[in-house]
Amino acid sequence: MTQGVVVGEESARLITFEGVDGCGKSTQLRLAAERLRAAGEAVVTTFEPGDTALGRELRRLLLDGEFVPVPEAELLLFLADRAQHVREVIASALARGAWVLCDRYSDSTLAYQLAARQLADQQIPLHALLNFAECGVRPGLTLWFDLSVEQAAARMRQRESSGEAPTRLDDEQAAFHQRVAAAFAQQWQAEPERIARIDADRPIADVHGDVCAALARRLPLSAVAAQ
Ligand SMILES: Nc1ncnc2c1ncn2[C@@H]1O[C@H](COP(=O)(O)OP(=O)(O)OP(=O)(O)O)[C@@H](O)[C@H]1O
Ligand SMILES: [Mg+2]
Repeated sequence: MTQGVVVGEESARLITFEGVDGCGKSTQLRLAAERLRAAGEAVVTTFEPGDTALGRELRRLLLDGEFVPVPEAELLLFLADRAQHVREVIASALARGAWVLCDRYSDSTLAYQLAARQLADQQIPLHALLNFAECGVRPGLTLWFDLSVEQAAARMRQRESSGEAPTRLDDEQAAFHQRVAAAFAQQWQAEPERIARIDADRPIADVHGDVCAALARRLPLSAVAAQ
């Protein structure tokens, strides 16, 4: 698959869901997709890492814990997953005119693989690398679910007690997760036009209401205006 990918206007329909582990991204993505579909919109839901055939293998290598990549290798494997994902899944969905709701994207790479691994200070062409992996596809809107690391961890413990296993990154120490959280806050401050902060420390239905309000405010989507 070597053809070019969509850029500009069309990629504005890419909405990414970001935040620390356990902040409610997947819950809210599912609800937003339902809402958009109910409004008659075409929607593709997807996630990173791992939503292609190659990506599933990369996800296993990255998250199972059998291998512990050095930070540089970890960054490059996440970027490899993204390029495959953009060209195989995201770009074609955008070209069909669908909304693409993606659970994690480049902001997670910045937060986890760069800030939390403390790679960002190195002399690496950070934005060139991220742009290369995105193949020109930037989200029109990013929803950042702002929740403290402690509250998110409590939600994850509850989720684990109902059977969902933690990944290698979930098991990182508290300082790692604090650096992740700080990086998301910093990205929001740097790009408030693209990133909408959502207070995630509220009941699921209320957070969903704020998501709908953000969608309606930032996108041509009167059908999802907050009720
Ligand atoms: N607003 C909320 N209030 C209370 N519990 C919530 C809320 N939103 C989600 N949860 C619960 O918290 C847990 C984590 O939510 P969810 O899986 O959506 O988070 P996530 O950000 O996708 O996590 P991960 O990064 O690990 O994929 C789930 O058990 C979910 O039901
Ligand atoms: Mg999730």
